Amino acid sequence: MIKVAPSILSADFANLAQEIHSMTENGADYVHVDIMDGQFVPNISIGIPVVAAVAKVSAIPLDVHLMIDRPLRYTEAFCKAGANILTFHVESDTPENIRKALELTRELGVRPAISVKPGTPAQAVLPYLELCSMVLVMTVEPGFGGQKFMADMMPKLRTIANYIKDRNLDCELEVDGGVGAETFRTCVENGANVLVAGSAYFKSTDPKSFVDLLHKGI
Ligand code: DX5
Ligand code: ZN
Repeated sequence: MIKVAPSILSADFANLAQEIHSMTENGADYVHVDIMDGQFVPNISIGIPVVAAVAKVSAIPLDVHLMIDRPLRYTEAFCKAGANILTFHVESDTPENIRKALELTRELGVRPAISVKPGTPAQAVLPYLELCSMVLVMTVEPGFGGQKFMADMMPKLRTIANYIKDRNLDCELEVDGGVGAETFRTCVENGANVLVAGSAYFKSTDPKSFVDLLHKGI
């Protein structure tokens, strides 16, 4: 089944509770929450208090995407704030600390996930997939909403999808960046089952139909 995760990066932050309520009404599966620290990516977004506030008003799980340097430092805080899925970039710390962050997340009852930037090969995340409940393939450079979808990431998506399938891992496969009505099909064809959509969802004149369309898959 295809899942849809609207990214609140493109939401009206002054009306976040209403935006999250609408997402749920429109059939979204996860609330995608982008955390940026101005170090790992050249932008700053929101942090732990906003995750806690969103967790209080959301009826659907929070999919928290950490784009921060050395995320092990904040793993416990994000888990306690109410993340349901917590995603770490493989590039954001040493392999030892990434492994520790994934294990700590699992110990705290939250689903751990790993993410990979466009310039990083699939092979970088494969050793972690046994520990993960989801893997996120970026289809733009992380940092900003509204960028152009990178179709050249599809072979990487396919490689990861095959790895998961061959080993029968319990691991979802998410794509993030430039995903919309024109680009979601190739993601699904190449094995993605969770589609993040920021600007495409929030700019849509009929977001419910948009979610329905993505749910249909190919
Ligand atoms: C980018 C973020 C994305 C972003 C997607 O760094 O990780 O989640 O919100 O926005 P769109 O769908 O507009 O590319
Ligand atoms: Zn994201």
